[in-house]
Amino acid sequence: MRIIIVGFGVVGQSFVKILLSKSAELYSTFGLNPRVVACVDSNGMAISQDGLDLGRLLEAKRMNKSVLAYHEKTICLNTSDLIENTEAEVMIEATPTNLENGEPGISHIVSAMKSKKHVITVNKGPLALAFASLLELSNYNNVRLAFSGTVGGGTPILEFAKKCLRGDRILSFRGILNGTTNYILSKMEEEGFTFQEALADAKQAGYAEASPKLDIEGYDAAAKLVIMANWIMSRKVSIGDVPRLGISDVNLNMIRNAHNNGKAIRLIAYCDTDELNVMPLEIQRDDPICVTGTLNAVTFSCEYSGEKTIVGRGAGGLETASAILRDLIEIRESISNPFD
Ligand SMILES: NC(=O)c1ccc[n+]([C@@H]2O[C@H](COP(=O)([O-])OP(=O)(O)OC[C@H]3O[C@@H](n4cnc5c(N)ncnc54)[C@H](OP(=O)(O)O)[C@@H]3O)[C@@H](O)[C@H]2O)c1
Repeated sequence: MRIIIVGFGVVGQSFVKILLSKSAELYSTFGLNPRVVACVDSNGMAISQDGLDLGRLLEAKRMNKSVLAYHEKTICLNTSDLIENTEAEVMIEATPTNLENGEPGISHIVSAMKSKKHVITVNKGPLALAFASLLELSNYNNVRLAFSGTVGGGTPILEFAKKCLRGDRILSFRGILNGTTNYILSKMEEEGFTFQEALADAKQAGYAEASPKLDIEGYDAAAKLVIMANWIMSRKVSIGDVPRLGISDVNLNMIRNAHNNGKAIRLIAYCDTDELNVMPLEIQRDDPICVTGTLNAVTFSCEYSGEKTIVGRGAGGLETASAILRDLIEIRESISNPFD
């Protein structure tokens, strides 16, 4: 299977490392023989229709900060042209999330679909802004749009809801979808840190960006909520439809009061057939979604089977790359069994 990787940062490189370490197993277990025919970062691209040497590709990125160094001569192509004109079955989108206009991810995804390539995206931006139209475009072009890694990192939250609960009806779900804010709230509760101290700690531990607005103000959780609402609840919503409140006004007094009442404050994303929101709420400490640290947790309320909770790490390079691999295996199987 020929693959184009667009975005070669933490997740893109982790995915290539998994391919390198598991190639024999992928072939013997899944009949999957992935060949990365192009790889793009913000400085340039590496291309080989025979398949790039993945060890060399990682080394070029490590030594020179760009895949550009893979070739002796610089290849200068527009990324959309590269996607459209390179023969490949799958394009993996792993560029930074942009929740204002979804670019460059949206253009990459559209180029891939128009040239009949399946898409795997870990980038939430395009789906948070244009879920319905991208899904329609994928159906129109008869290609898959897979996005397991956009919610829950490597934890299969979307698959759990969509596949394991098949036949039942999900009436609502609520959960913790952002690990950074959960880490901050946990630190405030467990160690008595102020919000600013906990935020500084999260930055030092590598869990928060230098400008953490997307996490702190609830945009990241809202983007994931939109993806879940569209995919699981068939809601037709985008990020602008989500009432959202972040955690920057949560103070130690609130945390202590909650604690004294057997509760904890968590940033909760909620969705049912009418409502949709992200806000800090008090929840019972023995609630299964009351996880600590960077964990994510979601409880689905189902018509027949009652409440089901899934918990796991919500981010991380290898974790998210494992979700890409799941999507790739599924695409491979759908190509072999087109009527499944
Ligand atoms: N990291 C996680 O745990 C995680 C979990 C779930 C989802 N995600 C999502 O996955 C995506 C990738 O995350 P990441 O952590 O790998 O980010 P990252 O380390 O910042 O990597 C982003 C990559 O995209 C490249 N890039 C930026 N602009 C580009 C452009 N216009 N054209 C081509 N490439 C471009 C960057 O190039 P340079 O290398 O030259 O800078 C870099 O290689 C994001 O959308 C993120 O939200 C990440």
